[in-house]
Amino acid sequence: MADKKETITLITGADKGIGFATAQGLGKIGQHVLIGARDAKRGQAAVDKLQKQGYKAALIMIDVTDQELIKQAVAEIEQKFGYLSILINNAGVALDHHESAADLSTDTIRQDFDVNFFGMIDVTQAMIPLLKKDLPAKIVNLSSNMGSLTFASDPESRFYKVSSLGYQASKASVNFFTINLSKELADSNITVNSVNPGWTATGFGGRPMSMPKIPGMQDVEEGAAQVIKMASLPRDDKTTGTFTENAGKLPW
Ligand SMILES: NC(=O)c1ccc[n+]([C@@H]2O[C@H](COP(=O)([O-])OP(=O)(O)OC[C@H]3O[C@@H](n4cnc5c(N)ncnc54)[C@H](OP(=O)(O)O)[C@@H]3O)[C@@H](O)[C@H]2O)c1
Repeated sequence: MADKKETITLITGADKGIGFATAQGLGKIGQHVLIGARDAKRGQAAVDKLQKQGYKAALIMIDVTDQELIKQAVAEIEQKFGYLSILINNAGVALDHHESAADLSTDTIRQDFDVNFFGMIDVTQAMIPLLKKDLPAKIVNLSSNMGSLTFASDPESRFYKVSSLGYQASKASVNFFTINLSKELADSNITVNSVNPGWTATGFGGRPMSMPKIPGMQDVEEGAAQVIKMASLPRDDKTTGTFTENAGKLPW
Protein backbone atom coordinates (compact mmCIF):
# COMPACT_ATOMS: atom_id res chain seq x y z
CA MET A 1 0.00 0.00 0.00
CA ALA A 2 1.26 3.51 -0.89
CA ASP A 3 2.66 5.96 1.66
CA LYS A 4 -0.37 7.83 3.09
CA LYS A 5 1.29 11.16 2.30
CA GLU A 6 1.39 10.55 -1.42
CA THR A 7 -1.19 12.45 -3.48
CA ILE A 8 -2.92 9.88 -5.69
CA THR A 9 -4.59 11.45 -8.72
CA LEU A 10 -6.83 9.65 -11.21
CA ILE A 11 -7.24 11.32 -14.62
CA THR A 12 -9.78 9.77 -16.99
CA GLY A 13 -8.90 9.74 -20.69
CA ALA A 14 -5.25 10.44 -19.90
CA ASP A 15 -3.51 8.42 -22.59
CA LYS A 16 -3.25 11.51 -24.81
CA GLY A 17 -4.23 15.14 -25.27
CA ILE A 18 -4.99 17.43 -22.35
CA GLY A 19 -5.32 14.47 -19.97
CA PHE A 20 -1.78 13.30 -20.68
CA ALA A 21 -0.36 16.85 -20.46
CA THR A 22 -2.16 17.20 -17.11
CA ALA A 23 -0.57 13.93 -15.94
CA GLN A 24 2.86 15.26 -16.92
CA GLY A 25 2.30 18.53 -15.06
CA LEU A 26 1.06 16.81 -11.91
CA GLY A 27 3.68 14.06 -12.12
CA LYS A 28 6.33 16.77 -12.24
CA ILE A 29 5.20 18.19 -8.89
CA GLY A 30 5.27 14.73 -7.29
CA GLN A 31 1.68 13.53 -7.55
CA HIS A 32 1.27 9.81 -8.25
CA VAL A 33 -0.81 9.87 -11.41
CA LEU A 34 -3.20 7.10 -12.36
CA ILE A 35 -3.60 7.14 -16.14
CA GLY A 36 -7.21 6.28 -16.90
CA ALA A 37 -7.38 4.69 -20.34
CA ARG A 38 -9.71 2.43 -22.29
CA ASP A 39 -6.97 1.17 -24.59
CA ALA A 40 -4.38 -0.87 -22.66
CA LYS A 41 -1.58 -0.37 -25.19
CA ARG A 42 -1.94 3.40 -25.43
CA GLY A 43 -2.47 3.67 -21.68
CA GLN A 44 0.67 1.67 -20.91
CA ALA A 45 2.67 3.72 -23.43
CA ALA A 46 1.59 6.88 -21.58
CA VAL A 47 2.59 5.36 -18.22
CA ASP A 48 5.99 4.27 -19.62
CA LYS A 49 6.62 7.77 -20.95
CA LEU A 50 5.84 9.34 -17.57
CA GLN A 51 7.95 6.82 -15.67
CA LYS A 52 10.89 7.47 -18.04
CA GLN A 53 10.58 11.14 -17.10
CA GLY A 54 10.95 10.08 -13.47
CA TYR A 55 7.29 10.52 -12.49
CA LYS A 56 5.14 8.12 -10.47
CA ALA A 57 2.47 6.69 -12.75
CA ALA A 58 0.24 3.64 -13.06
CA LEU A 59 -2.37 2.46 -15.53
CA ILE A 60 -6.05 2.14 -14.59
CA MET A 61 -8.28 0.67 -17.28
CA ILE A 62 -11.46 2.72 -17.35
CA ASP A 63 -14.13 3.40 -19.92
CA VAL A 64 -16.43 5.91 -18.28
CA THR A 65 -19.47 4.32 -19.97
CA ASP A 66 -18.69 0.82 -18.67
CA GLN A 67 -20.08 0.18 -15.17
CA GLU A 68 -18.09 -3.03 -14.76
CA LEU A 69 -14.78 -1.32 -15.61
CA ILE A 70 -15.59 1.56 -13.24
CA LYS A 71 -16.20 -0.99 -10.46
CA GLN A 72 -12.94 -2.77 -11.27
CA ALA A 73 -11.07 0.56 -11.28
CA VAL A 74 -12.39 1.37 -7.79
CA ALA A 75 -11.36 -2.10 -6.53
CA GLU A 76 -7.88 -1.79 -8.08
CA ILE A 77 -7.23 1.68 -6.61
CA GLU A 78 -8.52 0.48 -3.22
CA GLN A 79 -6.29 -2.57 -3.30
CA LYS A 80 -3.09 -0.89 -4.62
CA PHE A 81 -3.32 2.52 -2.93
CA GLY A 82 -6.13 2.39 -0.36
CA TYR A 83 -7.45 5.86 -1.24
CA LEU A 84 -7.75 8.56 -3.92
CA SER A 85 -6.77 12.21 -3.35
CA ILE A 86 -7.81 13.92 -6.59
CA LEU A 87 -10.20 12.91 -9.38
CA ILE A 88 -9.88 14.68 -12.73
CA ASN A 89 -12.86 13.97 -14.99
CA ASN A 90 -11.12 14.65 -18.29
CA ALA A 91 -12.53 12.00 -20.68
CA GLY A 92 -14.74 13.65 -23.26
CA VAL A 93 -16.10 13.47 -26.79
CA ALA A 94 -17.68 15.89 -29.27
CA LEU A 95 -19.67 13.83 -31.72
CA ASP A 96 -21.86 16.52 -33.23
CA HIS A 97 -20.23 18.79 -35.75
CA HIS A 98 -22.15 22.03 -35.88
CA GLU A 99 -25.34 20.48 -37.30
CA SER A 100 -28.41 22.60 -36.71
CA ALA A 101 -30.33 21.96 -33.50
CA ALA A 102 -33.43 21.38 -35.62
CA ASP A 103 -31.80 18.41 -37.38
CA LEU A 104 -29.21 16.92 -35.02
CA SER A 105 -30.03 13.30 -34.20
CA THR A 106 -30.85 12.56 -30.59
CA ASP A 107 -28.66 9.43 -30.92
CA THR A 108 -25.64 11.70 -31.35
CA ILE A 109 -26.73 13.92 -28.46
CA ARG A 110 -27.15 10.82 -26.25
CA GLN A 111 -23.64 9.60 -27.13
CA ASP A 112 -22.18 12.99 -26.13
CA PHE A 113 -24.08 12.80 -22.84
CA ASP A 114 -23.15 9.16 -22.20
CA VAL A 115 -19.45 10.07 -21.99
CA ASN A 116 -19.36 13.75 -20.97
CA PHE A 117 -22.20 13.73 -18.43
CA PHE A 118 -23.46 10.30 -17.34
CA GLY A 119 -19.97 8.74 -17.56
CA MET A 120 -18.50 11.55 -15.50
CA ILE A 121 -21.23 11.19 -12.87
CA ASP A 122 -20.87 7.38 -12.70
CA VAL A 123 -17.08 7.65 -12.23
CA THR A 124 -17.42 10.42 -9.64
CA GLN A 125 -20.09 8.64 -7.60
CA ALA A 126 -17.98 5.47 -7.63
CA MET A 127 -14.80 7.31 -6.56
CA ILE A 128 -16.28 9.46 -3.76
CA PRO A 129 -15.81 6.74 -1.08
CA LEU A 130 -12.10 6.51 -2.03
CA LEU A 131 -11.76 10.33 -1.97
CA LYS A 132 -13.31 10.35 1.51
CA LYS A 133 -10.35 8.22 2.64
CA ASP A 134 -7.87 11.03 1.91
CA LEU A 135 -9.52 14.29 2.92
CA PRO A 136 -9.28 17.13 2.01
CA ALA A 137 -9.80 15.90 -1.56
CA LYS A 138 -10.52 17.47 -4.95
CA ILE A 139 -12.62 16.83 -8.03
CA VAL A 140 -11.86 18.75 -11.24
CA ASN A 141 -14.37 18.49 -14.10
CA LEU A 142 -13.32 19.30 -17.66
CA SER A 143 -15.96 21.62 -19.05
CA SER A 144 -15.87 24.04 -21.96
CA ASN A 145 -16.57 27.68 -22.76
CA MET A 146 -18.96 26.15 -25.34
CA GLY A 147 -21.06 25.00 -22.37
CA SER A 148 -21.52 28.52 -21.01
CA LEU A 149 -25.22 29.49 -21.18
CA THR A 150 -24.18 33.12 -20.72
CA PHE A 151 -21.88 33.10 -23.77
CA ALA A 152 -24.33 31.10 -25.92
CA SER A 153 -27.13 33.59 -25.28
CA ASP A 154 -25.06 36.78 -25.61
CA PRO A 155 -25.22 38.29 -29.14
CA GLU A 156 -21.85 39.96 -28.41
CA SER A 157 -20.15 36.64 -27.69
CA ARG A 158 -18.18 34.69 -30.28
CA PHE A 159 -20.16 31.63 -29.16
CA TYR A 160 -23.54 33.20 -30.04
CA LYS A 161 -23.61 31.65 -33.50
CA VAL A 162 -22.08 28.31 -32.49
CA SER A 163 -24.43 25.33 -32.61
CA SER A 164 -23.13 22.00 -31.34
CA LEU A 165 -26.14 21.13 -29.23
CA GLY A 166 -25.07 17.73 -27.87
CA TYR A 167 -21.59 18.88 -26.87
CA GLN A 168 -22.69 22.29 -25.57
CA ALA A 169 -25.59 20.88 -23.53
CA SER A 170 -23.43 18.07 -22.11
CA LYS A 171 -20.80 20.57 -20.92
CA ALA A 172 -23.47 22.93 -19.49
CA SER A 173 -24.68 19.84 -17.62
CA VAL A 174 -21.14 19.12 -16.39
CA ASN A 175 -21.23 22.62 -14.89
CA PHE A 176 -24.55 21.89 -13.19
CA PHE A 177 -23.03 18.75 -11.66
CA THR A 178 -20.10 20.88 -10.43
CA ILE A 179 -22.46 23.40 -8.83
CA ASN A 180 -24.67 20.83 -7.09
CA LEU A 181 -21.88 18.50 -6.00
CA SER A 182 -19.68 21.32 -4.71
CA LYS A 183 -22.47 22.39 -2.35
CA GLU A 184 -23.21 18.83 -1.28
CA LEU A 185 -19.58 17.91 -0.61
CA ALA A 186 -18.51 21.14 1.10
CA ASP A 187 -19.04 19.64 4.55
CA SER A 188 -17.14 16.50 3.52
CA ASN A 189 -14.06 18.60 2.62
CA ILE A 190 -14.08 17.71 -1.08
CA THR A 191 -13.87 20.63 -3.50
CA VAL A 192 -15.48 20.41 -6.95
CA ASN A 193 -14.56 22.79 -9.77
CA SER A 194 -15.13 23.08 -13.53
CA VAL A 195 -12.31 24.09 -15.86
CA ASN A 196 -12.36 25.22 -19.49
CA PRO A 197 -9.05 24.22 -21.07
CA GLY A 198 -9.71 26.45 -24.10
CA TRP A 199 -9.35 25.63 -27.78
CA THR A 200 -6.43 23.23 -27.85
CA ALA A 201 -4.52 21.38 -30.56
CA THR A 202 -5.42 17.79 -29.70
CA GLY A 203 -7.20 15.10 -31.69
CA PHE A 204 -10.45 16.18 -30.03
CA GLY A 205 -13.62 15.94 -32.12
CA GLY A 206 -11.77 13.88 -34.76
CA ARG A 207 -9.19 16.56 -35.62
CA PRO A 208 -6.28 14.80 -37.37
CA MET A 209 -3.10 15.21 -35.30
CA SER A 210 -1.17 15.72 -38.57
CA MET A 211 -3.18 18.90 -39.18
CA PRO A 212 -1.16 22.08 -38.56
CA LYS A 213 -2.28 24.12 -35.56
CA ILE A 214 -4.94 26.66 -36.59
CA PRO A 215 -4.20 30.27 -35.52
CA GLY A 216 -5.74 30.84 -32.10
CA MET A 217 -5.38 27.21 -31.02
CA GLN A 218 -3.31 26.61 -27.90
CA ASP A 219 -0.59 24.03 -27.42
CA VAL A 220 -1.62 21.13 -25.24
CA GLU A 221 0.52 22.37 -22.31
CA GLU A 222 -1.44 25.63 -22.30
CA GLY A 223 -4.69 23.64 -22.49
CA ALA A 224 -3.71 21.66 -19.41
CA ALA A 225 -2.42 24.64 -17.40
CA GLN A 226 -5.63 25.61 -15.55
CA VAL A 227 -6.48 21.96 -14.82
CA ILE A 228 -3.00 21.54 -13.32
CA LYS A 229 -3.43 24.77 -11.36
CA MET A 230 -6.75 23.64 -9.83
CA ALA A 231 -5.40 20.16 -9.06
CA SER A 232 -2.26 21.51 -7.42
CA LEU A 233 -3.88 24.06 -5.10
CA PRO A 234 -2.90 23.32 -1.50
CA ARG A 235 -4.79 20.26 -0.31
CA ASP A 236 -6.72 22.31 2.27
CA ASP A 237 -7.62 25.09 -0.19
CA LYS A 238 -11.37 25.68 -0.01
CA THR A 239 -11.98 26.96 -3.58
CA THR A 240 -15.10 25.15 -4.75
CA GLY A 241 -18.00 25.57 -7.15
CA THR A 242 -16.02 27.65 -9.68
CA PHE A 243 -15.76 27.69 -13.49
CA THR A 244 -12.36 28.98 -14.62
CA GLU A 245 -9.85 29.03 -17.47
CA ASN A 246 -6.26 30.30 -17.81
CA ALA A 247 -7.53 33.90 -18.04
CA GLY A 248 -9.65 33.64 -14.87
CA LYS A 249 -13.31 33.20 -13.96
CA LEU A 250 -15.93 32.25 -16.59
CA PRO A 251 -19.68 32.91 -16.51
CA TRP A 252 -21.83 29.76 -16.17
N1 LIG B 1 -9.31 20.28 -27.21
C1 LIG B 1 -10.13 21.29 -27.02
O1 LIG B 1 -10.14 22.28 -27.80
C2 LIG B 1 -11.07 21.33 -25.83
C3 LIG B 1 -11.77 22.52 -25.55
C4 LIG B 1 -12.63 22.55 -24.44
C5 LIG B 1 -12.79 21.43 -23.65
N2 LIG B 1 -12.09 20.28 -23.94
C6 LIG B 1 -12.30 19.12 -23.05
O2 LIG B 1 -11.05 18.62 -22.61
C7 LIG B 1 -11.14 17.20 -22.36
C8 LIG B 1 -9.96 16.50 -23.02
O3 LIG B 1 -10.02 16.72 -24.42
P1 LIG B 1 -8.76 16.58 -25.40
O4 LIG B 1 -8.73 17.81 -26.22
O5 LIG B 1 -7.55 16.17 -24.66
O6 LIG B 1 -9.30 15.40 -26.35
P2 LIG B 1 -8.62 14.02 -26.83
O7 LIG B 1 -7.21 14.24 -27.18
O8 LIG B 1 -9.58 13.50 -27.85
O9 LIG B 1 -8.69 13.12 -25.52
C9 LIG B 1 -9.91 12.66 -25.01
C10 LIG B 1 -9.64 11.51 -24.08
O10 LIG B 1 -10.92 11.04 -23.59
C11 LIG B 1 -10.92 9.64 -23.75
N3 LIG B 1 -12.27 9.09 -23.86
C12 LIG B 1 -13.21 9.28 -24.80
N4 LIG B 1 -14.29 8.52 -24.55
C13 LIG B 1 -14.01 7.84 -23.40
C14 LIG B 1 -14.72 6.89 -22.62
N5 LIG B 1 -15.94 6.46 -22.97
N6 LIG B 1 -14.13 6.41 -21.50
C15 LIG B 1 -12.90 6.81 -21.14
N7 LIG B 1 -12.16 7.67 -21.85
C16 LIG B 1 -12.73 8.18 -22.97
C17 LIG B 1 -10.13 9.37 -25.00
O11 LIG B 1 -9.75 8.00 -25.02
P3 LIG B 1 -9.43 7.22 -26.38
O12 LIG B 1 -8.00 7.56 -26.68
O13 LIG B 1 -9.63 5.79 -26.01
O14 LIG B 1 -10.37 7.72 -27.41
C18 LIG B 1 -8.96 10.34 -24.78
O15 LIG B 1 -8.00 9.78 -23.93
C19 LIG B 1 -12.52 16.78 -22.90
O16 LIG B 1 -13.41 16.62 -21.81
C20 LIG B 1 -12.97 17.95 -23.77
O17 LIG B 1 -14.36 18.10 -23.81
C21 LIG B 1 -11.24 20.20 -25.01
